Amino acid sequence: MTATNIEAVPLEATRTQALEEIGACADLAALAELQRKYLGKSGVLAGWLARLPTLPPAERPQLGQAVNRLKKELTEQIAARESALERALQESALGGSFDPSLPPAREERGTLHPVTQVTREIEDLFVSMGYQIADGPEIETDWHNFEALNIPPDHPARDSQDTFYLRGAGRLLLRTHTSPVQVRALERLKPPLRVIAPGKVFRNEATDASHEHTFHQLEGLVVDKGVSVAHLVSSMKTLLRGIFRRDLEIRLRPGFFPFVEPGFELDARCPFCTTGCSVCKQSRWIELLPCGLVHPNVLSASGVDPNEWSGFAFGLGLSRLVMLRFGITDVRLLLSGDLRFLEQF
Ligand code: PHE
Repeated sequence: MTATNIEAVPLEATRTQALEEIGACADLAALAELQRKYLGKSGVLAGWLARLPTLPPAERPQLGQAVNRLKKELTEQIAARESALERALQESALGGSFDPSLPPAREERGTLHPVTQVTREIEDLFVSMGYQIADGPEIETDWHNFEALNIPPDHPARDSQDTFYLRGAGRLLLRTHTSPVQVRALERLKPPLRVIAPGKVFRNEATDASHEHTFHQLEGLVVDKGVSVAHLVSSMKTLLRGIFRRDLEIRLRPGFFPFVEPGFELDARCPFCTTGCSVCKQSRWIELLPCGLVHPNVLSASGVDPNEWSGFAFGLGLSRLVMLRFGITDVRLLLSGDLRFLEQF
């Protein structure tokens, strides 16, 4: 056996041990320690090279080359082990398998509900005209929903608003319109005042494509000195211009609501046709909102002197307006929560 062979055997043993230790190494700190141990300045391989001068000159190149080969091999093995450990670390942090080459999951981005979109638009319009946005409870007292609005018990007008009453809760009910917010605004704010109140209302009635037990209205109330029908008409024209983005001819028909006098149904020229269409049922007019001058009894009921103040009120059918705007033909879709519907907005 030559001297080289004698030296080669322990070098082979070093290799076996190093590979075993690297393969079994379970964390990055220990791996760095192994790197220092074998490849560091005063590491095991450096020790082998330090021995070269003690060998016969003829054997030095062979051992030198063997040590360099081993150095390269260990460097590669340590690098491979390092990336395996790093990957394992990432995977456990991400709770399972992680493939960084996969394309990102499709972003699920929601949009505002069509009712919210139109509500915000109309709110902006009225805020720009100096109105405040008022809010009221959806569970109301009989006083706010009916009596203070000049609708006494047994008044026939109650029949037209089929009401959900709450069991065993005095005479609490789900508000049948947003008009109780008129009463609350009068109670809380002193005139002069301008408010709008968008919100949900409830009616105990059978549902079909144009009737829903829950829908949206937007109430408006202006109380000031000397408010007349002329103010009402010009404000409603501004409202329509904001909604349909052009001037529409309007007409007033008499309408009965106990809390306004005179009361009107306001119609607008059909914004969708010039000769008649299915939306206006060939009439060229669409019925848009009931409105009128606030009844003196309503002002009095909330402690506002009708000899000093007058006002107008309107009740925009928000759900209907949203349907007109987006061409929705079934009101029940609005609150269905059906994503196939909602994703279209
Ligand atoms: N609150 C009435 C309804 O829901 C509408 C309305 C509001 C009428 C304001 C006149 C003035 O039927």
